[in-house]
Amino acid sequence: MPDNIDNLLTETRRFAPDAEFTASAVADAGLYERARADRLGFWADQARGLVSWEKPFTEVLDWSNPPFAKWFADGTLNVAYNCLDRHVEAGRGDRVALHWEGEPGDSRSITYAELTAEVKKAANMLEGLGVRDGDRVVIYMPLIPEAIVAMLAVARVGAIHSVVFGGFSAESIRSRVDDAGAKVLITADGGWRKGVVSPLKPAVDEALDATVHGPSTVEKVVVVKRGGNDVAFTSGRDLWWDDLMQEQAAEHTAQAFEAEHPLFILYTSGTTGKPKGILHTSGGYLTGAAYTHRNVFDLHPETDVYWSTADIGWITGHTYVVYGPLANGATQVIYEGTPDSPVPGRWWDVIEKYGVTIFYAAPTAIRAAMKTGRQIPASRDLSSLRLLGSVGEPINPEAWVWYRDVIGAGATPIVDTWWQTETGSIMISALPGVTTLKPGSAQVPLPGVAVDVVDDHGVPVGDGEGGLLVITEPWPSMLRGIWGDTERFVDTYWSKFGRSVYFAGDGARKDDDGDIWLLGRVDDVMNVSGHRLSTAEIESALVSHPIVAEAAVVGAADETTGQSVVAFVILRASQADTMTPEEAAAALRNHVAHEIGAIAKPRTVMIVQELPKTRSGKIMRRLLRDVAEGREIGDTTTLADTTVMQAIRVG
Ligand code: WTA
Repeated sequence: MPDNIDNLLTETRRFAPDAEFTASAVADAGLYERARADRLGFWADQARGLVSWEKPFTEVLDWSNPPFAKWFADGTLNVAYNCLDRHVEAGRGDRVALHWEGEPGDSRSITYAELTAEVKKAANMLEGLGVRDGDRVVIYMPLIPEAIVAMLAVARVGAIHSVVFGGFSAESIRSRVDDAGAKVLITADGGWRKGVVSPLKPAVDEALDATVHGPSTVEKVVVVKRGGNDVAFTSGRDLWWDDLMQEQAAEHTAQAFEAEHPLFILYTSGTTGKPKGILHTSGGYLTGAAYTHRNVFDLHPETDVYWSTADIGWITGHTYVVYGPLANGATQVIYEGTPDSPVPGRWWDVIEKYGVTIFYAAPTAIRAAMKTGRQIPASRDLSSLRLLGSVGEPINPEAWVWYRDVIGAGATPIVDTWWQTETGSIMISALPGVTTLKPGSAQVPLPGVAVDVVDDHGVPVGDGEGGLLVITEPWPSMLRGIWGDTERFVDTYWSKFGRSVYFAGDGARKDDDGDIWLLGRVDDVMNVSGHRLSTAEIESALVSHPIVAEAAVVGAADETTGQSVVAFVILRASQADTMTPEEAAAALRNHVAHEIGAIAKPRTVMIVQELPKTRSGKIMRRLLRDVAEGREIGDTTTLADTTVMQAIRVG
């Protein structure tokens, strides 16, 4: 990412912790020492201190058969109990758990006691529908309180949730339902987005349509009323959430499950066309979520109002909207809609309204706000903010400094947090009040986490050098597998440098101080607005359209979204004359949205006669990226046909 590096070099300021902040900070420098002296003892302390166990564990880690880790294996716990009942039992039931803000401006504040009561009823409802521990439940919902209630209810009964982002298509829902063998699906009629109701239930109906896809494993569909849009009901299958909830008993005792009991599957894009179902389990995941949420966000649960803008369809929504904050008894804001609905600066209105103190968002949103100008946030009172976070993609120093100056009044620390769906929780970040901040760098692994940058042979690079990011020791919230595909789990993450080193798929550089700078993916995974997309998945969506003969997709650098999707498509000979390139491009953009979801829609579809290939037939994406980014085309000597690039340029 050379354009990124230019930008990095111009910002050399450093921001030392403020003494007042440090004086009351949750984290202290001693954490690093304690973790270094006894890493497993350190994690055991976190697990005992932050999580309530029904049966305490005696063994911390079993790593006798890498990469299959077992953390706290002989302990038992209930994850939902940890997020709910124990706070009520400790006399904190009146604390607000969720300040929910709907996009049209409706809102609800829900205390821990109320949330616990709702989840108990929802757990009874699921059991009434035949959901048992180990069963899979797909959740396809807008960001409304019921979505969180549903996730926690699934966890409470020991079932496994698989949340599918509400922007994904019927096709994406179906492939996830089938892969997981889901028994129940929880959805809503629709949710509010950009000033209108965006329907969700029709996509579920299409996904489960037996005449199109054959019978599915889903027995019941539970529908929350939110959008008020008309929906079709399949009798015997579809049920209203409200009707079911009304019938439920108020009491539900949370049964304890083993620490390694599966908690959820979350699908994420990989280098092949098929998304991977990343599996997380209970005790270790919750420990990682609670520990990082507390220390990285300097959480003071009695006084803070925390807000992560992530949707529950992504890992950030799992770890830093649901499990981390609720395990820690935090008060948080959740918001249904988009940052600019109905007015630009809606986010800042929400911060002002609830007095948000800790704010966690993606660089794309910060860059979009920069574009619309500082006068918009400047017209709101953001003085409650005391800590800002960034996640999902590298934050360029210019955006970092703007974020701190304009949103953080030139005073708040910023934590740039690197992690992945697979890591479950934050791995690399500054600790606020401890670390001197460096704009653009995620900086240092958290205490207890062992990260390195290595060359192609797995040898650690020196300071000032670049290579591949690896995690060299197991960690409690690590993925436990890919659902139904052990071989892919081992191949993807644990084979490049041996079975005990985790290969993250990111390029990174150590600076002269040994701080880590993330440089983007080294595989065919794109990062668009902080969301992971696979080139192969979009290519296979494109070639599934009858007019397409061949397709290649690249991620091109984009000022706002980090990367954007650019597709190069060869039409079938029979089609090439019947449609204009513009018509074909429009049809294909819609087709990708239909197959995967609007986030995967290519920004540009270029209709070409040929694709650049090596003599062995491999598409040279590097050259296509040059075209997509408007650069001089690089070395073409390995091309089978060196005139191709000229044709693409001209065409
Ligand atoms: C990228 C999101 C630079 C990275 C939590 C990683 C980042 C992928 C950062 C995971 C960051 C995430 N700086 N890059 N602070 N955070 N990434 O699974 O490429 O949706 O591999 O998890 O996002 O994306 P995922």
